[in-house]
Amino acid sequence: MKLKLVLLITFFVGVSYGNDPRWNDCKDTFCNRLRGSPKVSYSVDLASLKIEEQTNKLVGSLNPKSGNGAKLALTVSLLEEEIFHISIDQEEHSTPPRYRAHDALVENGEAFNTAKPSISKSHATVDVSYKNLKVTIYEYPMKFEFYNNNRLFSVVNPNNRFVFETDNQNNEVAIGLDVSFKDAQRAYGLPEHADHLALRDTVKEEPYRHFNLDYGGYEIESTQALYGSIGVLYAHGNEYSSGAFWLNAAQSWFDITNGPNQIDAYFMSESGVLDLFILPGPTLPHAAKQYTKLTGTAPLPQYFTLGYHQSRYSYMTQDEVVEVVTKFDENSLPIDVMWLDIDYTEEKKYFTWDPERFSDPEKLISDLTKTNRKLVAIIDPHIKVDDTYFLHQTATKEHYYIRNSTGADFQGECWPGLSSYLDFLNPKVREYYSQLYLDHHFQNKDVHVWNDMNEPAVFKQPNDEHTMPLDAIHYLGYKHRDVHNIYGFYQTIGTRTGMLQRKDKVRPFILTRSHFAGIQRYAAIWTGDNSATWDYLKISFPMCLTEALAGVSFCGADVAGFSGIPDDELYQRWYQAGAWLPFYRGHSAIDVPRREPYLYGEDIKQRVLVALRQRYAHLPVWYTLFFEHEQTGEPVIRPITYHYPKESDAFDIENEVLLGSNILAAPVLERGVLQNRVYLPGGNEEIWYNIDENFKPYRGNGSHLLTVNMDSVPVFYKSGSIIPRKDTPRAVSADTHQDPYTLYIVLNAEGRAEGKLYVDDGESFSYQQKKFNYVNLVFEKDTLTVLNLVDGTSYPDAAPIKNLVIVNPPLAVTRVQKTEESSTIELNSVYSENNNVLFVNNFTAKLQNGFKIKLTTTPSSA
Ligand SMILES: *[C@@H]1O[C@H](CO)[C@@H](O)[C@H](O)[C@H]1NC(C)=O
Ligand SMILES: *[C@@H]1O[C@H](CO)[C@@H](O)[C@H](O)[C@H]1NC(C)=O
Ligand SMILES: *[C@@H]1O[C@H](CO)[C@@H](O)[C@H](O)[C@H]1NC(C)=O
Repeated sequence: MKLKLVLLITFFVGVSYGNDPRWNDCKDTFCNRLRGSPKVSYSVDLASLKIEEQTNKLVGSLNPKSGNGAKLALTVSLLEEEIFHISIDQEEHSTPPRYRAHDALVENGEAFNTAKPSISKSHATVDVSYKNLKVTIYEYPMKFEFYNNNRLFSVVNPNNRFVFETDNQNNEVAIGLDVSFKDAQRAYGLPEHADHLALRDTVKEEPYRHFNLDYGGYEIESTQALYGSIGVLYAHGNEYSSGAFWLNAAQSWFDITNGPNQIDAYFMSESGVLDLFILPGPTLPHAAKQYTKLTGTAPLPQYFTLGYHQSRYSYMTQDEVVEVVTKFDENSLPIDVMWLDIDYTEEKKYFTWDPERFSDPEKLISDLTKTNRKLVAIIDPHIKVDDTYFLHQTATKEHYYIRNSTGADFQGECWPGLSSYLDFLNPKVREYYSQLYLDHHFQNKDVHVWNDMNEPAVFKQPNDEHTMPLDAIHYLGYKHRDVHNIYGFYQTIGTRTGMLQRKDKVRPFILTRSHFAGIQRYAAIWTGDNSATWDYLKISFPMCLTEALAGVSFCGADVAGFSGIPDDELYQRWYQAGAWLPFYRGHSAIDVPRREPYLYGEDIKQRVLVALRQRYAHLPVWYTLFFEHEQTGEPVIRPITYHYPKESDAFDIENEVLLGSNILAAPVLERGVLQNRVYLPGGNEEIWYNIDENFKPYRGNGSHLLTVNMDSVPVFYKSGSIIPRKDTPRAVSADTHQDPYTLYIVLNAEGRAEGKLYVDDGESFSYQQKKFNYVNLVFEKDTLTVLNLVDGTSYPDAAPIKNLVIVNPPLAVTRVQKTEESSTIELNSVYSENNNVLFVNNFTAKLQNGFKIKLTTTPSSA
């Protein structure tokens, strides 16, 4: 660890921002006060509880019973989405009122329907129930018990650690609450941290912290704050899983206790109202989907966004950008997107282009788009203080900046030097900002946006951890301390609003570093400024799995590490592994040598090419899963335990991902290994076929040691699944649009397999007008059938199916026939004995109308 730190410091010398910040521990903040001090006990004024006619909400008062406390207002509601909501605020409002982070919720939470609950009161409790859900409210000390089908699964304030400070004079307005979860063996969630999937017990350590920070080269296996803050916690067990969503935009800390069969959490936030949602489960998929009912799902991204992205801090001229693409093409390496980091601007003035190095942005854009490539350009929230800069002029004149505590426009250092910061909380600022994307060469539909440094980063503020002082002033007079974690989220709203108003309206792509609950509705994220070490490669898997459970499936890590220099082995392994996380981008720092894959020798280049081709071959799977995510909230990537909660050994498996439920990727994430340990779930009856070993079957009976070499990327298809692929190698995803599908049909012991395929134009919003095909592919009783899943949908331009690869096929197939629109033809098939695979090649079957393919076997084996 020591050695690594020394190396990191060396690497960062070139991009030092001046004084290194000291990241705060719990003891340096309000956290210490809440963790340590005696609490005020509250009682629920049961007599005051009543159902509000208009809203169906149960409202009443909380009375302080000891110490100095103010009277509080309690609201309890049961959403029709089968989620509990508890809200606690002061009865007497301050000015401005305590901050509510409700923009994180779908339609500000206004669209949720509160169920009309039934109420039953006894002398010391009140029961509030709806369908199978019930909360029992205890008078003193205040306590809430949550039941699902009469099973107690969670208790709020079980140890009476509730805190609600109201001393505005001294900035002591923190809140705290303890929640316990029954029958749970692991805690997951609360991104973003560079830590394991299963959260650690923090009682003797630092709690997990949420305080969005620009923390390059962050510590690994740490509870320290990173770039994003999402307050959803899952308590997961063999028998039951549930969760809680703590909605607060201020600095927050979370203490976790892993008890035997119980998870205890203590939630602490520096200010704001208390907003807690209890997710009743009863499984992890249920709880994760309940969370997306609150905060929404990601809109279907364009197809190209799932291809490979090439970035660099920075490509310095527009010719260099085009040259990179040319080199990719010359080396047959597929690529979809080129990225511009800050240096394309004139003196880091966003919405300007350097007049010499990027003198003709329209030409750059057309050079890229003529080969179907896209451009992503960075736009940060800090604005150069420069009286000749139009944006600064307008923002100054219109009072669009965040103010400092004495009321002047806040000024701090960032990339352009002295900078001010747009106050994105103000709807007028967002409106102005959104319009900037309709000009300045951002109006082209093939230009997309990267919002970075939006925690926000402010250099040379070591005491403020390189961010805005907490007493800076935002819209409506809110202090920065109240809204810190949601600031970047509002920037992405402005960006997306603008991109949606462009003349050629296509699905916008936005990447953001700062993130908050609900960010999936606006942007993708990545794990920020990592380094080229094996530890960072490895931690990227649990980091993105945790984000996926917290609604943010579109996640990846900078391939090969942002800072530092990867050795050849790490470089190749990172390309192989990165292909199995949703966002796939190579990126590197300003002070490290260029490392596009074509710069490497033949062997390495070839392995990167294979990794890229694997990625492109599986784009139909990724795209189908993103469509399903938008519809259902189901994450695109999932930890093994998501589908196999009974297997306790899988609780901590975090270096493998399930892509949907049918593909398990277990890339090699360690140096110099000859054997890779892979956990395969599902029990003895479940068979997983390693596509990396020519469909060698493995049982899902736990841990296997696989012999690997530098070419190996263990990826398994589950028996009983159908995987649609596009195997024709192409330079860019758009060129695959009309390429035919190959279906990989992996039959189970009953000779059955099933899979889904979604297809549309990959770009526009016409899928919202039913211009798509979403089909179920079923192989049963020797016949493949394609069934349209959504009535009234149609996408006639869908590419046809041309090949079948049938793994574990019926014995002695003598005849293959395709029936489509009542005409039947014979198809050729070839059986490969060594791996027990039947190939049916070179036919054309259209998705749009549905078709059948029937295998006939010899009578003796039938
Ligand atoms: C606020 O900014 C003004 C103008 O730059 C400066 O004079 C003043 O000292 C600043 N206040 C604080 C608290 O930094
Ligand atoms: C799984 O099954 C294989 C094949 O039957 C067997 O060799 C192996 O020992 C089993 N592994 C475990 C962990 O039970
Ligand atoms: C594939 O089928 C087409 C049309 O039936 C035929 O012209 C072509 O030769 C076939 N190709 C191969 C490789 O069998």
